[in-house]
Amino acid sequence: MKSIEQAEIIEGTIVLIRTDWNLPLDKEGEVLDTSRIEASVKTINFCLEKGAKVIIMSHLGDGTNSLEKVFKQAEKFFPNRRMRFVKDPWNKSAVDGKTALEDLRSGEIAVLENLRFWMEKENDPTFARQLANFADIYVNEAFSASHRKHTSIVGVPKLIPSFAGFRFLEEYQNLSESFDPEHPFLVILGGAKFETKLPLVEKFLNIADHIFIGGAMAPYATSLASENPKIILPEGDINALDANPETLEVLKEKIVDARFILWNGPLGNYEKGFIAGTTALARVLSESKAKVIVGGGDTLATVNRDVKNEIITHGFISTAGGAMLDFLANGTLPGIEVLNS
Ligand code: 3PG
Repeated sequence: MKSIEQAEIIEGTIVLIRTDWNLPLDKEGEVLDTSRIEASVKTINFCLEKGAKVIIMSHLGDGTNSLEKVFKQAEKFFPNRRMRFVKDPWNKSAVDGKTALEDLRSGEIAVLENLRFWMEKENDPTFARQLANFADIYVNEAFSASHRKHTSIVGVPKLIPSFAGFRFLEEYQNLSESFDPEHPFLVILGGAKFETKLPLVEKFLNIADHIFIGGAMAPYATSLASENPKIILPEGDINALDANPETLEVLKEKIVDARFILWNGPLGNYEKGFIAGTTALARVLSESKAKVIVGGGDTLATVNRDVKNEIITHGFISTAGGAMLDFLANGTLPGIEVLNS
């Protein structure tokens, strides 16, 4: 996988950067958290400082909402740059006959409309060619979307020279540490959808010293736990809506000893407001001496809100949710494979 640092970027090079600006929105469609924009700033500035013209592309949700509200947030991260939002990148302006992208100058940023308004999910070869034609080189700065075999993730990089962004590589390197970790190694899994996390549990039974399975997954893990002493389940009512103090005490004991900890998923029913256990766990982890790697939407929201600075002094906060789980289970992702090919 080639790093962006190996790309030949000079004044006027057009760089197409796939970011994951799929940000959480509230019911009114307002942006709740901008960490994923922040995670892409270093790569974007690296290109701009070399005089590149930067085109950003991302999906947002299922393709219902425009990316324009995200664009407004992104503008705050580049106060000295001219930025434009491009709803229709193929439209030639009536004034000078140029498209907005043809009009882009060195050091400027264009952000395309939500990719899922077009043939993104289909990995469509024509759409891939249309996107690739915009640029000289492609950069994947969307590790957290690289589990999707979509046009901008696996189609475009086959067509023009392709590189991994700084954050993409950081995600790859930090998450890869879990395959050969320091011991004792504790895995903490919460949230729902046990079946989607089962491959990961099976894999980490060979690597980890302890695997705690909490949240809505716990009731599904009882028979697995009865066969595997490495698996720890919540204390008391297995169907409880949040982790109780006894459960947190058991976790604390393991956390104190651990040298490496991987955490994905809340310990309670987060959407219904049962966040106390998850919040308490974030605090305990922030004080631990282990290297702590955290990921997953709700987990991230808690950590970013309460203990972000403490965690990053001795760990890594992944921007990935589903991609983190897929990468940990399989050791690779479609978006990595294409950059390696
Ligand atoms: C994510 O938020 O996990 C990524 O952006 C992928 O989004 P998706 O689940 O809508 O494909």
